[in-house]
Amino acid sequence: MLTLLASMYLVTQALSSQAEPIRVVVTGAAGQIAYSLLYGIARGDVFGKDQPIVLVLLDIPPMLPVLDGVVMELQDCALPLLRDVIPTDKVEVGFKDVDAAILVGSMPRKEGMERKDLLKANVAIFKTQGGALEKHAKKTVKVLVVGNPANTNCLIASKSAPSIPKENFSCLTRLDHNRASAQVAMRCSVSSDKVKNVIIWGNHSSTQYPDVHHAKVNAHGGEVPVYDAVKDDAWLHAGFISTVQQRGGAVIKARKLSSAMSAAKAICDHMRDIWFGTKEGEFVSMGVSSSGNAYGIPEDLIYSFPVQIKNKSWKIVGGLPINDFSRAKMAATAEELVEERDTAVEFLSQ
Ligand code: NAI
Repeated sequence: MLTLLASMYLVTQALSSQAEPIRVVVTGAAGQIAYSLLYGIARGDVFGKDQPIVLVLLDIPPMLPVLDGVVMELQDCALPLLRDVIPTDKVEVGFKDVDAAILVGSMPRKEGMERKDLLKANVAIFKTQGGALEKHAKKTVKVLVVGNPANTNCLIASKSAPSIPKENFSCLTRLDHNRASAQVAMRCSVSSDKVKNVIIWGNHSSTQYPDVHHAKVNAHGGEVPVYDAVKDDAWLHAGFISTVQQRGGAVIKARKLSSAMSAAKAICDHMRDIWFGTKEGEFVSMGVSSSGNAYGIPEDLIYSFPVQIKNKSWKIVGGLPINDFSRAKMAATAEELVEERDTAVEFLSQ
């Protein structure tokens, strides 16, 4: 009897020490990024190994049968943290009470489609989803936009959810950040964790500026500036930058599909840093709201900056010296974003 009571006590203790599940929605959940991403989230890579999760999978009506397959696979993973999986094509169900929203689904470019038409289609999607976040999500929700054009889609979602702080919205440039770190690491023959503080400035497009002026490599027991470790300024000013800028295209050319495994990994890195903070002395790249006070970048853009995160709040790393080479590249990508924003905002008001 005593043993029974003791084991009942232990079970109650174990159950009561477990946190309440958080609700996480992934849109585009029947797509290829989601297929790599959902397992990472469900097994605790993002929100912690003790955090139970309810996963909500949102996609469009024709993809519901595919979602059923994804649900079955998630169930078959037998993951202890995964408390429920909810497939849906309805935004009011998808965004209900969510703590985190990862917006992956967007309208892909179809053959013969003009850039403007693509933007218009995406404004419609992110206006609807922003509106649904406004109505149904927790006000503390953290929203990560991945679907392209990620920066502008993020801005539209944020503008469509005015009661959620705009600081809660960010877009993914972590894949570009990881690509830049990996390029430098390979060049220096070190593992990628030995490279820190690379920066992606601006748009998640080919105008982005991968900058290593403030980055360090940990080699031979000490930290050295990347320029000293690589010892090839010509490569850092040209080949390195274009490789990172064009990497997405290179993957498509080789794989006949866009980056998915690496995008999913970057999404996990980004959201985990929001949830748990960045390491002391390190910063990461993230598309966040520009207030007009940092590095001369115009306000009202979602622009990728170096950020540090503490208590689920990001702060742009200030005071980094910027040379003329960098300034010109930072301005060029800002200009592209201003143009994209102005067109998107016109569609938003239609
Ligand atoms: P995919 O085509 O395999 O999947 C997209 C999914 O989104 C499809 O299942 C589709 O039905 C769904 N979808 C479309 N409209 C939707 C809506 N209104 N609501 C919910 N779901 C919707 O595409 P993939 O490879 O998963 O990529 C998704 C997006 O991520 C693309 O826009 C891609 O360009 C972008 N991307 C962004 C990266 C970044 O670093 N920011 C990196 C890689 C991809």
